[in-house]
Amino acid sequence: MKLPDGPKNPALLQLIQWIANPLDYLDDCAKRYGDIFTLRLSGFRPFVFINNPQGIQEIFTADAKNFDAGRSNGIVRPLVGDNSLILLDGERHKRERKLLMPPFHGEKVKSYAQLICQITQRVGSQWQVNQPFVARTVMQDITLEVILHTVFGLSEGDRYQQIKPLLASMLDMTGSPLRSSMLFFSFLQKDLGAWSPWGKFLRRKQRIYELLQAEIDERRGHPELNGKDILSLMLSAKDENGQPMTDDQLRDEMMTLLFAGHETTATALAWAFYWIHKLPHIKEKLLQEIDTLGDNPDPMEVYRLPYLTAICQETLRIYPVVFIAFPRMAKSTVEIMGHQFDAGTMLTPCIYLVHHREELYPEPKQFRPERFLEREYSPYEFIPFGGGNRRCLGYALAMLEMKLVIGTILSNYHLALADNKPVIPQRRGLTIAPSNGVPLLMTGRRAAQRTVVFS
Ligand code: HEM
Repeated sequence: MKLPDGPKNPALLQLIQWIANPLDYLDDCAKRYGDIFTLRLSGFRPFVFINNPQGIQEIFTADAKNFDAGRSNGIVRPLVGDNSLILLDGERHKRERKLLMPPFHGEKVKSYAQLICQITQRVGSQWQVNQPFVARTVMQDITLEVILHTVFGLSEGDRYQQIKPLLASMLDMTGSPLRSSMLFFSFLQKDLGAWSPWGKFLRRKQRIYELLQAEIDERRGHPELNGKDILSLMLSAKDENGQPMTDDQLRDEMMTLLFAGHETTATALAWAFYWIHKLPHIKEKLLQEIDTLGDNPDPMEVYRLPYLTAICQETLRIYPVVFIAFPRMAKSTVEIMGHQFDAGTMLTPCIYLVHHREELYPEPKQFRPERFLEREYSPYEFIPFGGGNRRCLGYALAMLEMKLVIGTILSNYHLALADNKPVIPQRRGLTIAPSNGVPLLMTGRRAAQRTVVFS
């Protein structure tokens, strides 16, 4: 069946635009082709992009059996390994998702509140007045530490300290559009020695694998070390035949959580700090709201603040860090928005374009948190974490982290942008990040130093 219209230029050019400047490219395509269009990116099957909430609802609410999403995520295989939840489909995906979900939801996720505030307070206490720092880097320190705790428990050991810089530097290897090309062009994925980009990437990954394997071996050898962390949970899980997870499966799921669980949140936080300090009226209003809680608020009170929540939502709306959901591959003929699609078609809910629809979000290029206080958006209109059976596993943790990190820092410090250069949304691997990472200055401490109280 004929695919919806889309750009006619050669697939290689389309891919280059997709890598170099994805948001402008998407805006252009939506202007020209409307709610549904096809991109042909060299080396990939055609992708049908859908930016209409009705179409997205049809995809997110369809029976999970109609689509495979893991199969279409091959691009992250070098980062997360073959056994990653992100690459699984069918029953195995369902089973592993069920296993990994509880630590990230409900009461359990709230138990990380104290940890998040403490890590943030410790990081902030190291700042010197007027000494610039890059928000993205600092936020990555915080979010990486949080996810390491949730995966490994409170093991503060040497191994844990070694994983931190290795993981950060491995992900930095896709830190710009040019470097992100490594993920899209398989011919660049050649190990030409320890100094070649791919060679470096593989060696760092191997070193992380060794550290993860050492942790698995230690836990298997000393079951008394097992606690309530995710590794312990996975170590005690059995499949339908009573078999435990293999070392490779454990390692890939740990890599997945470490990779998916901190970069995205760090980038979202860097964006939030950018907007709060770029637009003084927003900062003013937020501070007034935070101050209504008085000294030493409970973290859950901070979490529930409406304007803070709206700032986090608007941050994830305007430049959604993950700007497309996983492409869903139709397993048989499906109908979406009145179009028939053959088996094998890749249907891609476009988070960025839905978030920029004028009729839903008037003046969509303006940062205006109030829109989230004025109306409620459906789970097909506001979709920073995707939806359906692939909805982000860590959305509750990510929202908790965003609010508590912002709340803790703004209660205690005056910050300012370190320069006035325009910040451009730029590809960073598979995400959209602020081009300069957002340089900030701590200009002073707020009158009362607050600590968050835990009831
Ligand atoms: C602001 C931060 C984050 C954003 C914007 C984000 C966004 C997303 C999106 C858009 C998807 C794909 C959903 C779909 O296709 O329907 C996803 C999947 C996923 N995310 Fe997140 N994420 C964030 C933080 C996290 C955190 C903290 C974790 C830690 C557990 C995490 C773990 C995952 C996993 C494991 C998947 C794959 C789920 C599956 O295949 O079933 N993410 N995320």
